[in-house]
Amino acid sequence: MTKPDFQVLASPSAVAEALANHMARALRAEPAITLGLATGKTFLPIYAALVALHRTTGLSFEGAHSFNLDEYIGLVPGHPASFRHYMEENLFRHVGLSADRALLPEANGDPEAACLAYERAISARGGIDLQLLGIGRNGHIGFNEPGSAFDGRTQVARLTPSTIAANTSDFPPGEVPPPEAITMGIGTILAAREIVLVATGAGKAEALARAFPAAPHQDCPASALQRHAHVTVFCDEAAFGAMRGEGQG
Ligand code: F6R
Repeated sequence: MTKPDFQVLASPSAVAEALANHMARALRAEPAITLGLATGKTFLPIYAALVALHRTTGLSFEGAHSFNLDEYIGLVPGHPASFRHYMEENLFRHVGLSADRALLPEANGDPEAACLAYERAISARGGIDLQLLGIGRNGHIGFNEPGSAFDGRTQVARLTPSTIAANTSDFPPGEVPPPEAITMGIGTILAAREIVLVATGAGKAEALARAFPAAPHQDCPASALQRHAHVTVFCDEAAFGAMRGEGQG
C-alpha cells in the first residue's frame, strides 16, 4: 500500500491556488492532457482559480480533453443542478472547453449503454492523465458509496440517503436529487495515471482520517486510493486536523 503525498494548506483558497498551479504545470507540460474532473462545493474555488489563470496568464485548454466523474440520471438537459450545467458555468465556457472535448456520462438515454460508451471513450483517449476527486463525508469518491467494489468500472449507482441529503441544497427549492447517477467506478478512477484528492473544511476531517491511516476497506471508498502509486491529497488545516494524531504531519 502506498501513502499519498499530503499538501496541507492554510485555507480553501490556498488549496485552490496550489492545485490550480499544479494543474497549470501539468497542462503546460502536456497540452493534449486528458483530465478527469469532479463537481461539488470543494471545486468551486479551484475552478475559479483555474479560470483566473486562463485570463491572467493565458493558460490554454485548447488541446485538453476532460471526462467528469459522474452525472445524475434523468435530469432534463440544462437542469441547474446537473453536473453538465455546473461544469459549463464554473469552468468549461470560461476556458473554451467545448462539449465535444469535455464529456460527462450521457444520463438521458440507456444508462447501461452510456456506461460502456464512457469507458470506451476514455480508452480511446489513452486513459486519464490527471484525475481530480472530492470526498464525501462517508468516504465516497464519485458516486461510489461505501461497499462499492474497488475494481468497478463506469456504472449506475444508487445514492445513499446521506448523499441525497448533502446534495439537496444544490437543487431548486422543493426538488431533491434523483436516486441514481452514472459514475466512473473505483477501478476506472484507479486507472488514471495521477490522482489528486481534495478535502477542505472540518466536515471532511473524519472521512480523510478514515481513508488513509487504516487499511483499505470497502466501507471507505477513498481508502482504495492507497492502491495507487501517484496520489496527492490537497487539503486545508481543518480537514487535515484529525490526522495530526496519526503520525502524518
Ligand atoms: C462530484 C463527486 C462527489 C463529490 C463529493 C464531495 O462530482 O463525484 O464525490 O466530490 O460528494 O462534494 P462536496 O465538494 O460538495 O463536498
